[in-house]
Amino acid sequence: MRKSKDQKIQRLLSLLRSAGSSGYVSGQSLAKRAEVSRSAVWKQVRGLRQYGYEVESTRGMGYRLVSDTQNPVPWELKKILRATTIGKDVVYLPVAKSTQSIALSIAEKNAEANGTVVIAEKQESGRGRQKRKWFSPEGGLWFSVIHRPSIPTHSITLLPLVAALAVREAIAKTTKLDPQLKWPNDIMISRKKVAGILLDISAEAEWVKYAVLGVGINANVDASVISAMINDTRGITTLRTELGHDVSRLELLRLILENLESHLGLLTREGENEIISAWKKASDMIGRKVSVLQNNGVVHEGVAVDLGQDGSLILETEWGRRMTINYGDVRVRY
Ligand code: BTN
Repeated sequence: MRKSKDQKIQRLLSLLRSAGSSGYVSGQSLAKRAEVSRSAVWKQVRGLRQYGYEVESTRGMGYRLVSDTQNPVPWELKKILRATTIGKDVVYLPVAKSTQSIALSIAEKNAEANGTVVIAEKQESGRGRQKRKWFSPEGGLWFSVIHRPSIPTHSITLLPLVAALAVREAIAKTTKLDPQLKWPNDIMISRKKVAGILLDISAEAEWVKYAVLGVGINANVDASVISAMINDTRGITTLRTELGHDVSRLELLRLILENLESHLGLLTREGENEIISAWKKASDMIGRKVSVLQNNGVVHEGVAVDLGQDGSLILETEWGRRMTINYGDVRVRY
């Protein structure tokens, strides 16, 4: 069987990794061992660099692998991921219209697909909540996860909260920053949005066939680039802008997928209360005055006092009346 481009690249990678003490392997030896021409070796080295590996080439010495990639390439992810279902299958694309639409069509066609992760380096038509566009340039972390829920239907509304928690914890661990959650599914740093979650479900009557969780993280991109692109008035930020340096998207993705698997497990074991209380602990909006804009133009104002069992937001209005909010855009008064 003919090797795919990725298989050839991985073969070259293992040859470079098995280099002797100098770290160099000559082009001739690589060509011989991989049974390809020297120009094919050169092309594959270029491929490795495109995947984010640093490969040095020195005249008379050959090639040397200087550093591994920190991009979320599937063969590196599989080596480090400690999850059983999530990430078992990974689809990795340099560019996609939207990982969400791809994951949705995989889930529709393949009833077995559970835990499949679709990642794109950039999206041309990324989707946000409430039919908004989601600008997704290179450097961000854009992916979708197929989940066939073995949880009661009434817990479905908790899925985005679970995903937001998983993302928050992973960002906190990799960056030592302290992101806060904003209802319903935003992850904020310095009170600006750094990541968002999108949930799509396919349901029939009382039965949920599958759910697709989309995660968008403004990682190694300048905030000014995104702000300019989306004409932002709400305030967005990126990990690069907050930290002043780039993060390993590979490590970030690994942590998110592992967290997601363990938090989803909690839902299966009827751990709704634990999820809700972890979410409230990770949010600085409880106890604050908020206004919620719904897409029929209605604005509700009050103090965010609690979350309901289904993840809805409970507001206490000026008159002491409690109301349950199921959707909307929240503005917090700090
Ligand atoms: C939001 O509006 O806050 C949710 C944004 C979700 C964006 C992600 S990026 C990966 C996945 N693919 C999409 O088209 N959207 C989601």
